[in-house]
Amino acid sequence: MFIKKGDDIMKLAGKVAVISAAASGMGRAGANLFAKEGAKVVILDVNQEQGELVVEEIKQSGGEAQFYKIDLIELDAIKEVIDRIDLQYGKIDVLWNHVGTPGPNGFENVTEEEYDFAMGLNLKSGFFTTQYALKSIRKAGTGSIIFTSSVGGLKASPTSVVYSTGKGAVVNLVRSLAVNLAKEKIRVNGICPSLAETPMMAQFLARSKDDDPEKNKQFLLERIPLGRFARPDDIAKAALFLASDESTYISGVNLPVDGAYMA
Ligand SMILES: NC(=O)c1ccc[n+]([C@@H]2O[C@H](COP(=O)([O-])OP(=O)(O)OC[C@H]3O[C@@H](n4cnc5c(N)ncnc54)[C@H](O)[C@@H]3O)[C@@H](O)[C@H]2O)c1
Repeated sequence: MFIKKGDDIMKLAGKVAVISAAASGMGRAGANLFAKEGAKVVILDVNQEQGELVVEEIKQSGGEAQFYKIDLIELDAIKEVIDRIDLQYGKIDVLWNHVGTPGPNGFENVTEEEYDFAMGLNLKSGFFTTQYALKSIRKAGTGSIIFTSSVGGLKASPTSVVYSTGKGAVVNLVRSLAVNLAKEKIRVNGICPSLAETPMMAQFLARSKDDDPEKNKQFLLERIPLGRFARPDDIAKAALFLASDESTYISGVNLPVDGAYMA
């Protein structure tokens, strides 16, 4: 269904879009953009104050949004929230699994607890959110599932083995699900940002090799051919493309949004 918005066409009119970790950063930019494009946006995040603020900014711009407070490491809580969304909206057209964590530094000193938490949030959470949401996505007829990986999932990370392992697994989860769900016209794609200007960026810079965030920042900036870090909107626009019917023949792709860093 297409609805006119001035001279433009709303790309997500009539669609229900669920975005995890959308109270901040790239997810927040995505929630705002998806709502502007006509989606009913459901925000899942542990930060209630910030989540409600995003709902407010969407409503003030004339969009529709709802917030659910949830710790996305807890599978039972995810199942319950997805069931509530299904009851309320009757379907899910777009699921963007954006939640993740930088995880512990290095390799040798990583504890089992740190490993389980990072893998839990970077991989297991999105795996099961998708599994629980599948029945609602099927009701939409077609669907677009998006995972946030990282350039650290496409190549080695010099600073965090666990992050790279988890995000690398997301890259192959995307491919496997794309093949498994293709018959049902459900598309699955990944987005791989390089450093993006969000609160999480400080955590990445703080744990880098030289323990000097400012030096690390310059070092990394020099390795991005387009000469700047990603802005939340850069990633939101890529997600919009993958969420919308403009990408109906694209599935199983892990798209770097990285200023040519991977190149
Ligand atoms: N920022 C970067 O440089 C960068 C680069 C590559 C990939 N990524 C990936 O992007 C995603 C998020 O990044 P961002 O930069 O938009 O983050 P951000 O720091 O702006 O926001 C993170 C959000 O996640 C929420 N959150 C954290 N733990 C949660 C939990 N257990 N349950 C529910 N919500 C939780 C926070 O409340 C916050 O709203 C992650 O998957 C991350 O690995 C980030």
